[in-house]
Amino acid sequence: MNFKKIPQLFLLIVLISSNLISQTRKTIELSENWTFKKGESKNAEKVTFNDKDWQEVTVPHDWAIYGPFDKEIDKQVVAITQNGEKVATEKTGRTGSLPHTGTAWYRNKFDISKSDLNKKIILLFEGAMSEPEVFLNGKKIGEWAYGYSYFYFDISKDLIAGKNTLAVKLTNKEYASRWYPGAGLYRKVSLIIKEKESINQWGTFITTPIISKDEAKVNIKTKVSGESGVLLTTIFDANENVVNELKSNILLNNEFDQNIKVKNPVLWSPENPYLYKTVSKLYVNNELKDEITTNFGIREIKYEPKKGFSLNGKITKFKGVCLHHDLGPLGTAINTAALKRQLTILKDMGVNAIRSSHNMPSFEQLQLCDEMGFLFLAESFDEWAKPKVKNGYNRFFDEYAEKDIVNLVRATRNHPSIVMWSSGNEVPDQWGEEGVKRAKWLQDIFHREDPTRPVTVGMDQVKAVMASGFGAIMDIPGLNYRVHLYDEAFKRFPQGFLLGSETASTVSSRGIYKFPVEKASMKKYDDFQSSSYDLEYCSWSNLPEDDFILQDDKPWVIGEFVWTGFDYLGEPTPYDESWPSRSSYFGINDLAGLPKDRYYLYRSRWNTKEETLHILPHWNWKGREGEKTPVFVYTNYNSAELFVNGKSMGIQKKDNSSPQNRYRLMWMNVTYEPGTLKVVAFDEKGNPVSEKEIHTAGKPAKIVLSPDRKTIKADGKDLSFVTVSVVDKNGIECPTATNQLKFKVKGNASYRAACNGDATSLELFHLPTMKLFSGKLVVIVQASKKEGNIELSVTGKGLKTGKLSLNSIK
Ligand code: GAL
Repeated sequence: MNFKKIPQLFLLIVLISSNLISQTRKTIELSENWTFKKGESKNAEKVTFNDKDWQEVTVPHDWAIYGPFDKEIDKQVVAITQNGEKVATEKTGRTGSLPHTGTAWYRNKFDISKSDLNKKIILLFEGAMSEPEVFLNGKKIGEWAYGYSYFYFDISKDLIAGKNTLAVKLTNKEYASRWYPGAGLYRKVSLIIKEKESINQWGTFITTPIISKDEAKVNIKTKVSGESGVLLTTIFDANENVVNELKSNILLNNEFDQNIKVKNPVLWSPENPYLYKTVSKLYVNNELKDEITTNFGIREIKYEPKKGFSLNGKITKFKGVCLHHDLGPLGTAINTAALKRQLTILKDMGVNAIRSSHNMPSFEQLQLCDEMGFLFLAESFDEWAKPKVKNGYNRFFDEYAEKDIVNLVRATRNHPSIVMWSSGNEVPDQWGEEGVKRAKWLQDIFHREDPTRPVTVGMDQVKAVMASGFGAIMDIPGLNYRVHLYDEAFKRFPQGFLLGSETASTVSSRGIYKFPVEKASMKKYDDFQSSSYDLEYCSWSNLPEDDFILQDDKPWVIGEFVWTGFDYLGEPTPYDESWPSRSSYFGINDLAGLPKDRYYLYRSRWNTKEETLHILPHWNWKGREGEKTPVFVYTNYNSAELFVNGKSMGIQKKDNSSPQNRYRLMWMNVTYEPGTLKVVAFDEKGNPVSEKEIHTAGKPAKIVLSPDRKTIKADGKDLSFVTVSVVDKNGIECPTATNQLKFKVKGNASYRAACNGDATSLELFHLPTMKLFSGKLVVIVQASKKEGNIELSVTGKGLKTGKLSLNSIK
């Protein structure tokens, strides 16, 4: 034995045991050991039930994403009245055509030690799609309704020492959604084991009511279970240095109310997402009973007439996008790597704000927004008491609306990213007196739970809400589309500003261009694709520039949230009736997360730090030789010259002659000839400052792989998103290639899914083969729990195989 090591060993033991002693609460994520079965299962809640033939799954889990796509699933014969439809027609892909409807069961067995039995044990669901009924050891312990809500039960009394059996029944009705809602335990499930005398679930509320350059007042309200005790709260900065602390023994109505000073505070903002944290320790009779850590940011938000929204004293416009909660080929099962990739793409585009349309965001997404710097509009409902879809939230509104809002606010209010709540989206309750009362009732609940943030509703019935007073009572009047009514609404509403709570709904398919190039509403083509010349929109919506003009010319418009940042499953407008369209065309990025041309239009305006110089369309138009093939350039520069095979097509300058001419450079009379398209951009003085070329490609020859991250975490969850494209023998990308490819992953990872962004594709995401769409697709590789090398190979007939080495680390 090496005696020199003994003191270190002793220290280690002391550290471990002191750590054990101070560990007053445990959070155990129930991610493994689940079994799952689709369909009704009699007695599945019983402890003795035999689930040996059930499927083993990990949670988060989306049971429907594995397909197959089927036209008949949740086929809705309806008139979508909010789209202005009067006659009912068959809508096939409305909720994604994936098998999400019906009943399913999950079971999990977990151990509880005898010593934990006299503790308080909470079972927390961060979302369960939907109408969860929860059973413990054969007994029903609770239920919820809304699939997007976070909820928990105190299960202390129902547990036994040793094995406990948890069973969850979920039911998704038909006609319950307007998009793919996912299915199953798609967010985390956890057990929280703590002392009887402890800090309540979501019992901490941190605000920063006074902020100056020299100091900030941090107010920390902490709800606890008992009526006596001492709370020691310590604030740490981002480098783990103690900033200040306070011990309090005044407990009123089970709540400690502490004010702590932070000197020279570093303010949180999208540009500098600086986070502090509090560690609160609860002592009762001098014994440490509970300890929790809460991240927070110090930032000031204000909404003022005429000035609009300011963050830390600086007028800031929302350059936002709306996001549905599905992660494309991964379905709705929450995954941090996938969320982070989305936000990384949006950050590069210059986005500063996210709206979680039309429901509660995941905790993972909010944490990422805190850390990466995004403002957040957290929404709750797409329906109140009046239905949009027969089996929608209207069935639960009266009983659940208050509970759902309370849980939303209490669970998420410490996130500095959240700067606004939304109580609803285009609710049919915009019509009628009852709706005005409901709007006030809901807004008051938000105010009671959180007096620091305003509330909005995305309103599309602008005339009705002007007349009824609905719009006037909103903290923030949010308009969905209806750009022609902004001026009138601004005059009629008392708030002194307006938000574009939902904008654009321009439609396009990545890499697909249609001729002639012209503006069109609800335009449909035989291939069920929309043109990437970005001139097509819906009967209720508009083109990006119609919003840009309002944002730029009206100081009282406080920003916009574009519909949507990424394509999502379901709602394939304008092809709602056209099978096999099964996912949206609205995204600025496609379902695979690949940028469409529109990405560069927004980037040229929103990313003010980096250059954007993007040419469209691609230059592979065999058969169009000699035909008019307009060329657009999306750029932050004001003017540029275009050359086709060295011949100038003239200089274009942005001007006010039309909304498009103000923000795009367009050469409408270019005649197609294969070769090189080159654009030279000029600065304000007319000096050439940048240039870009695209070339006509030859035949596909070789597969090229490009990962978003080469090193991933060996945690069984992390993902690398690999963009797959094909190039010709000279390395030029082939933008029209549709080759069928196959994927193989070797080493310490597995093939997870692929997606090509084609809204009409019925190929299944989880099978290791897919066709390219417009020359590209994305393969997702998932880490195992073992670290080491990973090899991805992608093969295709007649193509040189693409090979890529990745690695995973602990
Ligand atoms: C809006 C609605 C969104 C989506 C969008 C499509 O009216 O709020 O959920 O349906 O239209 O343009």
